[in-house]
Amino acid sequence: MSTHETVVSLSGVDVHFDTESGINPFTDSETVRAVDDVDLEIDEKDVIAIVGESGSGKTTLGKTAVGLQKPTSGTVSYRGQDVWKARKRFSNPEIPFSEIRRSLQIIHQDPESSLNPHKSVRSSLEQPLKKWQKGLGPEDREARILAMLQKVGMSPPHDYAERYPHQLSGGETQRVALIRALLMNPDLILADEAVSALDVSLRVEMMDLMLDLQDSFNTSYLFISHDLSNARYVAEHADGYLGVMYLGELVEFGPAKEVLKNPQHPYTKVLRWATPSLEITDETEPPVRKIDIPDPVNPPSGCRFHTRCPYATGHCRESAPESRSADVPEHRTACYRIDEHSDYWDAEPLEGAHVDR
Ligand SMILES: Nc1ncnc2c1ncn2[C@@H]1O[C@H](COP(=O)(O)OP(=O)(O)OP(=O)(O)O)[C@@H](O)[C@H]1O
Ligand code: SF4
Ligand SMILES: [Mg+2]
Repeated sequence: MSTHETVVSLSGVDVHFDTESGINPFTDSETVRAVDDVDLEIDEKDVIAIVGESGSGKTTLGKTAVGLQKPTSGTVSYRGQDVWKARKRFSNPEIPFSEIRRSLQIIHQDPESSLNPHKSVRSSLEQPLKKWQKGLGPEDREARILAMLQKVGMSPPHDYAERYPHQLSGGETQRVALIRALLMNPDLILADEAVSALDVSLRVEMMDLMLDLQDSFNTSYLFISHDLSNARYVAEHADGYLGVMYLGELVEFGPAKEVLKNPQHPYTKVLRWATPSLEITDETEPPVRKIDIPDPVNPPSGCRFHTRCPYATGHCRESAPESRSADVPEHRTACYRIDEHSDYWDAEPLEGAHVDR
């Protein structure tokens, strides 16, 4: 449960990438709007899961939140300190950038790339302790490393400490990556598809481990997954939050239980409907009108979901809905349907769509 002290805050964040689309890099460039106008607050001990299909901007948003990706516009702050101002030379920030770097950690998707293949587990884990806990002597460091390996079930720990990454399973590698991040005493860990490459049974184990260790280390998690079952597992068990991304926008965000019980954005309903483990009893849940995901270089006008939304009207095509809350203040959705006074209700449905309340 969150303690309401904000660790990371994103305000009006855009991340746009210019990519070359043709022969001339000056005239043939295109802009991918990977993240568009996102606001997000991550408090101490929060667990926030972000879900969305491939290319929706989850990784870009996550990297921006931990200061690894510079926003095109908007601000990212760590405990009130603008991260990118702290990063500038001679800026003399209240919180030095090195402190921000230590506090915001990341665990990657791919177990192989999480650890240096030429370093033993011991050596990989010693590194953060040497750098950030200079008061610890070699014996204390060794004791902490062995205790952590034992804690995550890698026993006998002496044996695991000697091993190299190629001598570990994918699940074991991700555990070492998690320990290494935690040894920095971070305020926030970005877990970007950190369980996606694991077998289903190991995924649950790894997610349970992350949540178990959260209490001892007082860290927050920004957990990213393209799979709603994983995102839901983590967010619900931690009594955390769930955010849904679509084409760079955070279209729905709120307490996980609330979003899953009472999804308000039609896209969240589609995701929920397409996740068999959620056992939706409402069989009449509508599918999308079109299967194709639009091009992020040239996203649809108005509400970006209007080309697929089963409830889209002409109003949705013309203008973009703002994110707002209807009943529960923390539950925010960018869809006209949550506003009973919207012009949406008087507009003509688009081809193949229907409007019902
Ligand atoms: N460095 C970059 N340069 C250009 N385009 C980029 C860059 N990084 C991401 N993109 C584009 O931004 C969009 C969002 O990418 P991102 O990796 O954030 O999506 P994602 O939701 O994490 O997808 P996945 O589930 O496949 O990991 C995509 O269209 C991607 O091609
Ligand atoms: S604003 Fe319109 S198109 Fe967008 S999700 Fe809501 S109903 Fe669908
Ligand atoms: Mg990604």
